[in-house]
Amino acid sequence: MAEQLNEYQGKATMEKITSLAKRRGFVFQSSEIYGGQNGAWDYGPLGIELKNRIAGAWWKEMTQLNDDIVGLDAAILMHPRTWEASGHVENFTDPLVDCKKCKARFRADMIPEENLAAKKCPECGGELTDTRKFNLMFKTHIGPAEDTASIIYLRPETAQGIYVNYKNIIQSNRMKIPFGIAQIGKAFRNEIVTKNFIFRTCEFEQMEMQFFVKPGSDDEWFNEWKKRRWAYYDRLGVKMDHLRWHQHGPDELAHYAKDAYDIQYLFPMGWRELEGVHNRTNYDLTRHTQFSGKDMQYIDQDNNNERYIPYIIETSAGLTRNVLMILCDAYDEEQVADKGNDDDWRTVLRFHPSLAPVTVAVLPLMKKDGLAELAQDIRHELKEDFAVDYDQAGAIGRRYRRQDEAGTPFCVTIDYQSKEDGTVTLRFRDSMEQIRVPKSELTARLRQEIKEYKRIK
Ligand code: GAP
Repeated sequence: MAEQLNEYQGKATMEKITSLAKRRGFVFQSSEIYGGQNGAWDYGPLGIELKNRIAGAWWKEMTQLNDDIVGLDAAILMHPRTWEASGHVENFTDPLVDCKKCKARFRADMIPEENLAAKKCPECGGELTDTRKFNLMFKTHIGPAEDTASIIYLRPETAQGIYVNYKNIIQSNRMKIPFGIAQIGKAFRNEIVTKNFIFRTCEFEQMEMQFFVKPGSDDEWFNEWKKRRWAYYDRLGVKMDHLRWHQHGPDELAHYAKDAYDIQYLFPMGWRELEGVHNRTNYDLTRHTQFSGKDMQYIDQDNNNERYIPYIIETSAGLTRNVLMILCDAYDEEQVADKGNDDDWRTVLRFHPSLAPVTVAVLPLMKKDGLAELAQDIRHELKEDFAVDYDQAGAIGRRYRRQDEAGTPFCVTIDYQSKEDGTVTLRFRDSMEQIRVPKSELTARLRQEIKEYKRIK
């Protein structure tokens, strides 16, 4: 296991990441023309590709590589009793204080203890209100009447959609314990503090997998899933010295959890939670039995029809938080001298090729002399297999820089020699090495490069 860093040593800052994300069309502020909407972000052309690829890698890991995990896409709006049963109506709260003078609002557990004790605003020194509980669920109304009977919540986690469907899936798909259900989808929380770009937002996406096991085997499965989730990030090419485990102490454990570990990532602002692995016991299914009156027991037909309420091991990752992690992890700046200019700096996103929004950029050296036409032909061929960008504007060095900054792992350049002998230049983002490849071999070569990719920095 890689030794964890004590403090952040990378080149990224949240300002640089936010600015690059906007400049290159990864992420925009929501409703920017109206001054922006706090806690909400829009994913631009490169951002949606990156997000989809991160989601795709997780989905493949869960549902394709595991024979015993199936997928689900449950509705965001659920029967309001769901959230009473789950404990969210009662327990899903943050402690909140307001400054009476400057009107700033804080999470009481996020300001210095001395300020809380002295009821002194950390920003203006004004008097703070008493701490009160604030429920994070967004509440709205369904139907035309805005009364208590019509209250409905935006789901604060995707997990409950899985629990209420677990019996449907056993019946429709003949699943046998142990088995899992995976889901990717939106979740909403009325967060008091939403700083750090897309780290903590009010609208976000989760990738959650609930694994149903026999009581008594839960500790073993909990450790197994911890191992699998750690190995997943390694395979994704994440810097492993930027990851660590954090076990929840008694004060941090959620109301449903027997044991919980976070995978934390070393972001520019410090170690923060990326994903949680939780032993949720049989809490949720027991509560749904009580609140719905439906029997949520599993009947083990291979074992004398033994009945029990399964325990659940949950792996819960933020998809949008993974996007931020991958951006920070990939971000690099380096001095390069590839054009004989020693002061030349480049910003480069060292995405794993399977995550990069654009896999290969096709660049004719010149627009004239038939090079653009030849490049267009190659673009059309590659499009069948890869995400391709085409750029014919500006000096070739500047075009390489643009692709480096978008994280494109490969550039294919078409020059005069290409017309003569059918070869093209293949340029590698990380090393900036260039080799000549027959254009007929490009697709196979790119496939091989993606498969065998090893991060060099
Ligand atoms: N079902 C369990 C659950 O929701 P959680 O620790 O509250 O557990 C799981 O959330 C993951 O969801 C977190 O590790 C984080 O990646 C992501 N997440 C939670 N709140 C978020 C927010 N406000 N904005 C972005 N991501 C969030």
